[in-house]
Amino acid sequence: MASLVINPNCIRNGSYRVVGTPNQKLLAAAFRPGIVRCSAAQSRPVYYPSHIPDPNYVRIFDTTLRDGEQSPGATMTSKEKLDIARQLSRLGVDIIEAGFPIASKDDFEAVRTIAREVGNAVTDDGYVPVICGLARCNRPDIEASWDAVRHALRPRVHVFIATSDIHLKYKLKKTREEVVDIARNMVAFARSLGCEDVEFSPEDAGRSDREFLYLVLGEVIKAGATTLNIPDTVGYNLPNEFGKLISDIKSNTPAIDNVIISTHCQNDLGLATANTLAGAYAGARQLEVTINGIGERAGNASLEEVVMTLRCRGKEQLGGLYTGINTKHITMASKMVMQYSGLTVQPHKAIVGANAFAHESGIHQDGMLKHKGTYEIMSPEDIGLSRSDESGIVLGKLSGRHALRSKLIQLGIELDGKELDDVFWRFKTVAEKKKHLSDEDIEALVSDEIFQPQTIWSLENVQVTCGTLGLSTGTVKLVGPDGARHVACAVGTGPVDAAYKAIDSIVQVPVTLLEYGLNSVTEGIDAIAHTRVVIRGENSHTATHALTGETIHRTFSGSGAEMDVVVSSVRAYVSALNKMLGFKSASSKKTLNSSQEIVGKV
Ligand code: KIV
Repeated sequence: MASLVINPNCIRNGSYRVVGTPNQKLLAAAFRPGIVRCSAAQSRPVYYPSHIPDPNYVRIFDTTLRDGEQSPGATMTSKEKLDIARQLSRLGVDIIEAGFPIASKDDFEAVRTIAREVGNAVTDDGYVPVICGLARCNRPDIEASWDAVRHALRPRVHVFIATSDIHLKYKLKKTREEVVDIARNMVAFARSLGCEDVEFSPEDAGRSDREFLYLVLGEVIKAGATTLNIPDTVGYNLPNEFGKLISDIKSNTPAIDNVIISTHCQNDLGLATANTLAGAYAGARQLEVTINGIGERAGNASLEEVVMTLRCRGKEQLGGLYTGINTKHITMASKMVMQYSGLTVQPHKAIVGANAFAHESGIHQDGMLKHKGTYEIMSPEDIGLSRSDESGIVLGKLSGRHALRSKLIQLGIELDGKELDDVFWRFKTVAEKKKHLSDEDIEALVSDEIFQPQTIWSLENVQVTCGTLGLSTGTVKLVGPDGARHVACAVGTGPVDAAYKAIDSIVQVPVTLLEYGLNSVTEGIDAIAHTRVVIRGENSHTATHALTGETIHRTFSGSGAEMDVVVSSVRAYVSALNKMLGFKSASSKKTLNSSQEIVGKV
């Protein structure tokens, strides 16, 4: 989102303009007396890897781009990852875990680009996120991780090895002594490369033997770890149990006061947010979370839930804990992650679900009209969302760009320049056919127009015939990477199948359609149809899974929104193909070349 990129050359320090290299500017900001302002009422303390000057400040470590991307179907392109990293920086997250660099060449490059671009964009008040890369406890992983993140002003390497007996016996096939040795040596190795900010995670800490855990943690502190992250890898712990784990580690690990304790809670029992907060209350000062709670299996603790709980209840119930997150950017972050990952949140999801601020029953509506505090513990504006019924803006075919922009801002979406123009023209086309566009319609159009992968193939026209009398046929005209128009027609079991086959015959990249889903955004015959598809290419796009080490075949999602269900379906398919083809890897470059040789140019 070009409109919000921060210019690191415009750093101001109160009334002083700080000049010099980014490093000098950072130092100037860091050693300025006092503290750096953040959007919340409280302020963000200066960053030191192993120490936080304010005991109540809690660091937010976002792992949407690493653990989040491990969710099935959530593959994101490098450009999408960069967009998300920029949004995380707008949110003010302290640490961005940008990926697992050894997983594939593309993962490495995505982390390096984020380190270079987002990891050097210092804001006026001296904030710049730490950029972190994950590594297993081996030299190639750690070297790759360091190589990718070292371009950031504040680079961090995160190494992990399992410590539970079940993992040692069946997965690692190693003794406890061997694991301690590896952990100690690999943390020391990361430090020896020049990395001054090293995080260590004993994987499956939630099921590890306590005494062994204290031993490993004590050894990695001696070896130079600056943050100790305690993962409940399989989401097994209960809040009181996880809180006790953190306080036991605090009381029993030698030299623990020299490092930051962190939490990483998976959501297998739906307790990730509760466990994370219990960990913070017990002394953890870094919390690992993801936007919308996406992640392995049932996901992770969600950033919006953890941050808003601390904001709403931190003072009264959690001893004054607070974060540096600018919560007004939550809505936009949530929408962006939904679109790019293809993982839509349920309507009743806390904070960011479509119903999170909706009041349907008469009694609740009556209470809301009398006093909002009767049924709301926070206001939608806190997360960058305005109440549509209060805005007074109803969009129709006569509405202008300004009205559209104001409506988008109320929906937590900030667009300018070309992006706004694109959405505006799309909106105009739909408004010609539909009298009033609801907030949901507008959101669907924005997602379809803006949160799309790089355009390689674009849809110009589609025409289908179908019915009970004969075969379904589809004719499709696409504009290709060479700028030429390509037309094909095909026969299928229905109009969507026929159109997809026509597209396949143009693009000529073998794919399997794994999922297809269509739903209407609003009620009524003139509703916008939203389609989501997931595809997998053949024999391409593999990566190494961070925790299991297995080779995984990436899947790619795409979405489309239109009033016509066939057009919506075709847009979704083209979007998924673009995402796959744009995914930078040796194999995708090959497919692109061969697809340029197709026949049927017009
Ligand atoms: O769940 C887990 O244990 C992890 C670690 C690598 C932190 O993701």
